[in-house]
Amino acid sequence: MRILDLAVALSSLAAFVVAAPTSPGKTQLPDGMPSPSPDQLKLIEQNAHGTLPNGPPPPVISSDGIVNLQLIAFNELFEVAFFNELITNITNKVEGYDIDDEEDHVKALDALKAILAQEELHALRANDALEHFKVNPIQPCQYKFPVDDFESAIALAATFTDVVLGTLQDVVERFALGRDVDLAREIASVIGQEGEQQGWFRVLQGKIPSELPFLTTSDLNFAFTAIQGFVVPGSCPNINEIPLRTFEGLEILTPAGPLSQNITIQFEDPNNEAEHLLWLTYINQQNLPIVEPIRVVSRNGKEVKAEALFPFDDNEMNGLTIAAVTKTDGPFSDASSVAKWTLAGPGLIIVN
Ligand SMILES: *[C@@H]1O[C@H](CO)[C@@H](O)[C@H](O)[C@H]1NC(C)=O
Ligand SMILES: *[C@@H]1O[C@H](CO)[C@@H](O)[C@H](O)[C@H]1NC(C)=O
Repeated sequence: MRILDLAVALSSLAAFVVAAPTSPGKTQLPDGMPSPSPDQLKLIEQNAHGTLPNGPPPPVISSDGIVNLQLIAFNELFEVAFFNELITNITNKVEGYDIDDEEDHVKALDALKAILAQEELHALRANDALEHFKVNPIQPCQYKFPVDDFESAIALAATFTDVVLGTLQDVVERFALGRDVDLAREIASVIGQEGEQQGWFRVLQGKIPSELPFLTTSDLNFAFTAIQGFVVPGSCPNINEIPLRTFEGLEILTPAGPLSQNITIQFEDPNNEAEHLLWLTYINQQNLPIVEPIRVVSRNGKEVKAEALFPFDDNEMNGLTIAAVTKTDGPFSDASSVAKWTLAGPGLIIVN
């Protein structure tokens, strides 16, 4: 079965990839993903407690709509690899993943197995639609995750799900602008689904289930960059077919709390942009982006350490905040205008 799957994956790769930058190696994905057999698909649907939508994709799609589908497939394949590895770690009671209480152990696995299969269907739906529109499906990469216990894995899941919940807002807006009506509706159903997952991740962390009245928004380009943080460089067979920007890296070094404070950040600055003024711009909830001046503290090669105010008190900045080092101080009207002027980002802050 395994060898057959690999052969199928490789032959479909050969069909789609004109010039792969590196050999794809073996996939980390379960259940024959990204190209399950009919039997494997049936099993995925059983595990997902539901099916792929059985109506056909719409006859036409906008060009931005294609980019939406590519980003969704790229993200969902990464999530499939993550949840599969998390389930394996818990099942094998790997150190750090041994949930003491047997009932909690079983409940967590039940929930995660459904989440895994649901993410598999999201990935398949996006890639099937790409194929339908004669665009190459997105192929999986090799992934690595900066976590080594259950708690940090759930915190990471909550973080990337927060980014997804913001990014799918951008997806819906782009579908709306491109008149991709049917796809907009389907994504709305997925946003609710991801929100249900997020409520559980939050409860597991001892937080209240619902994060904010209006969830923080994002931009496709921020998600595209963030996901690449979990990808082994050079391992994505056709990432170059996704026409989105990859920003320089930004790390938030100070764990930000529910109070106004100066935070330390570190970002990559290969072109010496920090010789000029730079700003740290924050996207939180559905509010206008907040812009704060950056004070450079030190420079080491292309790495810059700097400080900026995190103005929590004046803005009730709970939940996800997306931070970006921007080359202007705006004023910015929305997340995509921030992305347009971003040098480094996204830095992710979650308060409460
Ligand atoms: C699974 O456990 C290994 C070993 O601790 C760790 O390196 C990896 O990041 C874990 N993966 C997930 C998704 O938790
Ligand atoms: C942040 O740093 C600036 C400059 O050093 C200082 O004026 C300001 O009071 C600090 N703000 C907070 C909240 O600590």
